[in-house]
Amino acid sequence: MAEASNLVEMRGIVKRFPGVLANENVDFDLRSGEIHGLLGENGAGKSTLMSVLAGLYKPEAGTILVRGVPVSFNSPRDAIALGLGMIHQHFTLIDSHTVTENILLGLDDPPFLMRLSHYDERMAVTGKRFGLHVSPTAKIWQLSVGEQQRVEILKMLYRGVEVLIMDEPTSVLAPQEIEELFKTLRSMVEQGKSIVFISHKLHEVMSIADRISVLRQGRVTAAGIKPAGTSKAELANLMVGRKVLFEIEKKPKEPGEVVLELRGVSAENDKGLPALHKVGLKVRSGEILGLAGVAGNGQTELGEVITGLRRCTGGSILVNGKEVANRPARVPIEFGVAHIPEDRTHVGTAPNLSITENVIMKSYRHPPLARGRSLNRHVARERAEQLKQEYTILAPSVETPVRLLSGGNLQRVILARELSERPSLLIAMQPTRGLDVGAIEGVQRLLLEQRDSGAAILLVSEELEEIFTLSDRIAVIYEGEIVGDGVEAEAETVGLLMTGGARLPKSEATA
Ligand SMILES: Nc1ncnc2c1ncn2[C@@H]1O[C@H](COP(=O)(O)OP(=O)(O)OP(=O)(O)O)[C@@H](O)[C@H]1O
Ligand SMILES: [Mg+2]
Repeated sequence: MAEASNLVEMRGIVKRFPGVLANENVDFDLRSGEIHGLLGENGAGKSTLMSVLAGLYKPEAGTILVRGVPVSFNSPRDAIALGLGMIHQHFTLIDSHTVTENILLGLDDPPFLMRLSHYDERMAVTGKRFGLHVSPTAKIWQLSVGEQQRVEILKMLYRGVEVLIMDEPTSVLAPQEIEELFKTLRSMVEQGKSIVFISHKLHEVMSIADRISVLRQGRVTAAGIKPAGTSKAELANLMVGRKVLFEIEKKPKEPGEVVLELRGVSAENDKGLPALHKVGLKVRSGEILGLAGVAGNGQTELGEVITGLRRCTGGSILVNGKEVANRPARVPIEFGVAHIPEDRTHVGTAPNLSITENVIMKSYRHPPLARGRSLNRHVARERAEQLKQEYTILAPSVETPVRLLSGGNLQRVILARELSERPSLLIAMQPTRGLDVGAIEGVQRLLLEQRDSGAAILLVSEELEEIFTLSDRIAVIYEGEIVGDGVEAEAETVGLLMTGGARLPKSEATA
């Protein structure tokens, strides 16, 4: 086979933001018909580089060649006209419109000459061709995140893009959806498209990419290497600039007293449908209970009822023997419950407030932070400075608004706030989602430290590897019920239980 030619060449790209050099003289090539994996830590400059290629940012220096011809873009529209389209992490669909309407929307000459139903058919045909299953007449709000992603892909295909750039497409997907997406990507490549696939997950990039490039702190540390010629360890090293041991040391520990006990807890989701059904669980001091499950099986609601953010329709939740069910959210906090929420930007932090304000959010009512009825700003600032160091939060200053922080640093702000108070119970929801390998290792270490100093931890994660690495005991949740508790640490059993493939007899499951 002849060496494939470069479809896209980026040369010497420089892109600055106030105080940050996001891309420092970056070269990047994309060949025709390849899937090119782009790896890098949080803040490495991946999204920036690809936003330059997609016409969203103008670089300060550098050139872009498409099929050998120098180009320059004033908007994403210009890039799409040349066949380059990007799907961002945050989707841009209109909830109240149908799939077809969303796809037609924003086209230069909206083709209203034909009936909408004609377009529905055309969408269905394109969808079928690439294995993108979604109903053209469905409204966006009715779709799961995975389905919405398919709409975004369809939208780009309908605009005739040859190059599809996907920014961390798997971070919002459940394991089976990831498989579906990979099938679509492969079928797109077979039909002549080229893809840039951004991810933090080494195993994903290793399995889907034809070639891999790595960025670190705005610079290229590997350009177009073949997966077969590298390893997870080497890639991790290229990403973070040091060795990452994929094994975390976990000391054996005898669990102590029961800290959290759920008895027959039921609750509804936001739509008023049953989300939890008679859940029973116990977590002891010095123990990590890993709760495995595919997203959307009641985990979110479970975290919320324990932390007082959602009402229970039945049952009892005891923290150190005291009832917390259906009590105000400050009650669990007073009983020593810490919470790492799933949604970091909305529930976990106040985006426009500073690091200082975010880290003191839970403790400002008490001395030494409270001075009478007002806040002692000096103490607050000192506390924030100290936590910034201790938790290695990388930011210009403690006055920086947290919306400017990268994913990994934002998660550290939450950890600093939640863990510095020495909680007796920690509810950790998807604590490493969206983080790079270096950051994941840091967060996992912190969780183990908490366990070793006696905290009870409920760890909710979709990452089986994480569940197996950290947990002392594993339970599985499926459709709002605990379908396995204390199950043998075997990936296969847990995987089956997660997908409803093997329910344990009731007596065993709730014992
Ligand atoms: N619009 C912006 N304004 C100011 N700074 C920005 C902006 N976008 C990115 N940055 C900064 O540029 C650097 C690179 O960010 P970028 O989003 O490209 O990283 P990334 O590799 O995509 O990270 P992640 O994996 O967290 O998505 C970071 O330091 C980030 O804080
Ligand atoms: Mg990014």
